[in-house]
Amino acid sequence: MEITTNRREAEHRGKQATMKPEPSSFRLVDKSDLAKGLFALYFDLAGEKVNKFNPDTMMELDGLLESMKTRDDIKALVFLSGKENIFIAGADITYIQAVKEASEGERLAKQGQSVLQKLERMPFPVVAAVNGACMGGGTELALCCKYIVVSDAPGTKIGLPEVNLGLLPGWGGTVRLPERIGLQAALDFILTGKTMDGPKALKLGYADACFSRYGFEAKALGFGARVARGEKISRPARKKPLAATVTSALLEENPIGRAVLFMQARKMILARTRGHYPAPLKILDVMSKSYGKPRGKALEIESKAFGELSFSDVSKRLIELFFATEKVKKQTGVSGARLQPGEQIQSAGLLGAGVMGGGIAQLLAHKGIPVRMKDIDLKGLAIGTSAATRLFSDLVKKRKMTRREADIRFALISPTTDYSGFGRADLVIEAIVENMDVKKKVLQEVEPLLREGATIATNTSSLSVSGMASACAHPENVVGMHFFNPVHRMPLVEVIRAEKTSDRAVMRIFELSKRLGKTPIVVRDGAGFLVNRLLMPYLNEASYIMSEGAPIEELDEAVLDFGLPMGPAHLLDEIGIDVAVKVAKILHEAFGVRAEPCKLNDRLVASKLYGKKTGQGFYVYDSRGRKQNLNPEIYKTLGIKPSAPSKARKADWIPRMTYLMINEAALCLAEEIVMEPLDVDLGMIMGTGFPPFRGGLLRYADTVGLKNIVTKLEEFEKKFGPRFKPTAPLVDRARQGKSFYS
Ligand code: NAI
Repeated sequence: MEITTNRREAEHRGKQATMKPEPSSFRLVDKSDLAKGLFALYFDLAGEKVNKFNPDTMMELDGLLESMKTRDDIKALVFLSGKENIFIAGADITYIQAVKEASEGERLAKQGQSVLQKLERMPFPVVAAVNGACMGGGTELALCCKYIVVSDAPGTKIGLPEVNLGLLPGWGGTVRLPERIGLQAALDFILTGKTMDGPKALKLGYADACFSRYGFEAKALGFGARVARGEKISRPARKKPLAATVTSALLEENPIGRAVLFMQARKMILARTRGHYPAPLKILDVMSKSYGKPRGKALEIESKAFGELSFSDVSKRLIELFFATEKVKKQTGVSGARLQPGEQIQSAGLLGAGVMGGGIAQLLAHKGIPVRMKDIDLKGLAIGTSAATRLFSDLVKKRKMTRREADIRFALISPTTDYSGFGRADLVIEAIVENMDVKKKVLQEVEPLLREGATIATNTSSLSVSGMASACAHPENVVGMHFFNPVHRMPLVEVIRAEKTSDRAVMRIFELSKRLGKTPIVVRDGAGFLVNRLLMPYLNEASYIMSEGAPIEELDEAVLDFGLPMGPAHLLDEIGIDVAVKVAKILHEAFGVRAEPCKLNDRLVASKLYGKKTGQGFYVYDSRGRKQNLNPEIYKTLGIKPSAPSKARKADWIPRMTYLMINEAALCLAEEIVMEPLDVDLGMIMGTGFPPFRGGLLRYADTVGLKNIVTKLEEFEKKFGPRFKPTAPLVDRARQGKSFYS
């Protein structure tokens, strides 16, 4: 995106006038040895690992296009990346983050549009040669080229992910993608931010050819040579089933059909987002207004909408979140320290092949790490291996890997009922039953069999890691690696630093978590660590609210409206009500009156209604674990009579549940369970699905205002009891007029 300031423009003109050399990100190379008039333009952003658009690169590109426009020796141009495995990562988001008003965002979009329009209008044909990631502005740049050729490399991923940042593609993507691949397919990509690989891009008609990754550049230049020689190149027909062709003709090619299409999409978006995310709705609005309009008018509609979104709170929150996860990617888990070369985990042993063990084994194998998986008997092993098989099969079904690749990866899991092979592992992950004595005994058994310095990680969700480490001869090697359920889907790993855990052990698990595609946060050992410590008061309060007669489905709906992905009763069923009761007891022991458990769930446990795993809890589940209706016996079992809440009572539901989490989070920061508010927010978003558009729990707290929260907590304390007593660190912050982030 071009974010040229007037000063920069002036500098640019000045530079042009004096012809001073400057670091260049583009290289124009004469390829007339291949075909007369063939040129290649390499984008190779100076001093960076990836190509991104920033003000300077856009200015440079603009200047280059301007100078090439009048050259009659150029018959065809191939646009290539000078980087390995990356075409263009998109625009540098820092410039969008800095937008202070809608008109500024609109101007940014317009500037980028104008450079790309120049490319689109070049007097000679341009071929975009896409190998590697091609995102946002990269995808939009390619759309301005007459031809697009792509590679079949697995790293070739083409997409418009702006919606994930609360934005829309602002450089013509909403206009040109539908022209190229059809309205329905374009909506699908722009509304979800999903990507296509090379073969898919060819199939959808985004690309004109898909070449092997081996010798891709030569093949792309060969294609360019044909273009330069003026050979007729026919665009491949979009391969779509007949039914799809007929439907798209009916829907896309007449105004009534298009209105139906947009209406359906709107309905789906509202059902999914409950209106919390403005970007998808804005995208629909833009595309319905701009479809079929002249280029200039269509781009104007797009840039105006881009301006409005770039300035929205939701976009600001989502961009912050993006930078937060990017920051984690650069961290090691220990400030100022790095893992020594050769210290990374290369092989693992796993204890316990249950719900979590099976998922962890599959994830390790998926990422190419051999894992020896032990359970007490073959029955236990069968659970883990069949879970891993299912997950690999799903990946094959979704075409994320071939059957052969899945088989090769699956073979990295070797099941066992003894400790053979553990002596070669760099790491042992313990995922056995949640019982301190059993865990200690098992760690004592395994530790002497391990190689020197091997790391021992526990996946415990509530027990003290320091307590467990006390059973080991080398407690410095013991660390927590707390995955969330289901392992393959939940992006968070809490890396638990116990009293004696070494920096090395923390860094090894932090690095491994990143390699497994997760976002790790380092958390100090303590009951519930971070996420469960904050989540349990919320669930506990939901139980109190239900025990007062709140209709269960209405409570779950209210939470969905707030933006969480699942209501609390449904979540309790997912976690397992027996497990939730157990964890609530542990937290009660640790935190006393603040975590006084509601007795409601005990009645379900007594009736063995544990939730999803037993087919019944608050809700009823089918044999595949899909939620059906409310359990018809639930109120009887719980011994409560549901009644419609008053407006005021209902308005208190969300504050009661969320302010308790905020209250506890203030303590977690004071106790240095985590170091920064951002860790809390990342943890809650990634570990519980706390609404990203709210920026996480503490950003949300700042929006409400800490003084207001304290006042409300005091009111609740009087009404509902001492569990609401505001914690000292929260009161202090509020008194000083501070927020969490200031
Ligand atoms: P699970 O009951 O499904 O699996 C435990 C497995 O460990 C069983 O297959 C059992 O046979 C095996 N096992 C018991 N003793 C063993 C031994 N000495 N050696 C090898 N295997 C042994 O339990 P789940 O749910 O997988 O939990 C495992 C651990 O993960 C627990 O510490 C739990 O707190 C933690 N966790 C569980 C989560 C969940 O949602 N289920 C989420 C995060 C952590």
